[in-house]
Amino acid sequence: MALKHCHNIADLRLAAERRLPAPMFHYIDGGSDDEWTIARNTSAFDDYQLLPEVLCDVSNIDLTTEIFGQHIDLPFFLAPTGMSRLFHHDKELAVARAAENFGTFYSLSTLGTTSLEEIAQTIATPKMFQIYILKDRSLTLEFVARCKASGYEALCLTVDMAMAGNRERDLRTGMVMPPRFGLKSLWSFATHPYWAMNMALHPDFKLANVAHRVDALGGGAMGLIDYVNSQFDRTVTWDDVEWLRAQWDGPLVIKGVMSPADAKTANHVGANAIMISNHGGRQLDSAPAPVDMVRQFRDAVGGSMQLVVDGGIRRGKDVVKAIALGADACSLGKAYLYGLAAGGQEGVEHALALLKTEVIRTMTLMGCASIADIGEHHIKQLGRNL
Ligand code: FNR
Repeated sequence: MALKHCHNIADLRLAAERRLPAPMFHYIDGGSDDEWTIARNTSAFDDYQLLPEVLCDVSNIDLTTEIFGQHIDLPFFLAPTGMSRLFHHDKELAVARAAENFGTFYSLSTLGTTSLEEIAQTIATPKMFQIYILKDRSLTLEFVARCKASGYEALCLTVDMAMAGNRERDLRTGMVMPPRFGLKSLWSFATHPYWAMNMALHPDFKLANVAHRVDALGGGAMGLIDYVNSQFDRTVTWDDVEWLRAQWDGPLVIKGVMSPADAKTANHVGANAIMISNHGGRQLDSAPAPVDMVRQFRDAVGGSMQLVVDGGIRRGKDVVKAIALGADACSLGKAYLYGLAAGGQEGVEHALALLKTEVIRTMTLMGCASIADIGEHHIKQLGRNL
């Protein structure tokens, strides 16, 4: 399915499904347990109606906004996602370049297959590094120092990974550590020879930000993943966030907060922003959709923190709804990964262009010429009086 025939993110998802062997596609597409949360993340947007205003001058739509202290050209940016090399040989570099061309924030995962230094050398636009507070605090400190040295504009601490969610699609396809691909998955590799040959010809899969640690320990790619998994620390508390806050002067974003009370605590320990997120439905199943929580978060923290809706964005109208409910911006995971799998940098740019066009059209039809024009009076929750 050529990119030019992909008219929305759902089409890009189908294109990604055709391009990727089943284990890789389901690794992007799947959620935890019964996948209730992953489904709700997107369907929750249907519970909100947009209320347009007419006869406003919408001859010029301005999408620019400010997030984490940086001016960006779109009200959405790219969330951190690990292991992009599995989906395209241009991996995180393709995504970062696309973000640069669209003038928006790029976030690199600790589990990226490109180093944070290489990303910093590649793009001049704002970038954020996603960090964990690991058992080996010296590695967390090392990341902070490397981000400072490379000029990262923001740090994003993911807090919803005390342990990995139960992703049953991955169990079925054998996308586990170490991989246990059964006959069905092996057949899927055989029927996607372009992907398999490409992986064989460019075998540069490595968790580039931590590779040096494991090289020291020996053990190759699998040893690396084992090492990273062994580093997730279930003892981490808000005291550790306070500790991290003291190490980093720039904007600190906490990603994976779902409770307004936790948002208040994050504010108290000096974080600047929250990504309201359930990890794209990959961690706690039955967690609510981020969009359903924005109002409560705004009530809890007022204007003292920036809020990002992270999860379920598949349409431009979703972005407008999140902002009308009180978010400052949205972030995307799967929407751009489908594009990456379908066509590398061009595919990511196609995803961003589709969403940008949809946001512009929605705002035009809503009578909103700028992001600041979008307000609570533009949205109505089904079943709730105005
Ligand atoms: C993720 N996400 C994620 N988050 C994070 O903090 N660190 C990571 O390494 C990853 N890795 C990752 C891989 C893949 C394949 C996906 C799909 C997601 C979660 C991501 O940042 C974001 O929270 C969700 O993707 C948002 O939901 P949507 O946009 O995918 O619905």
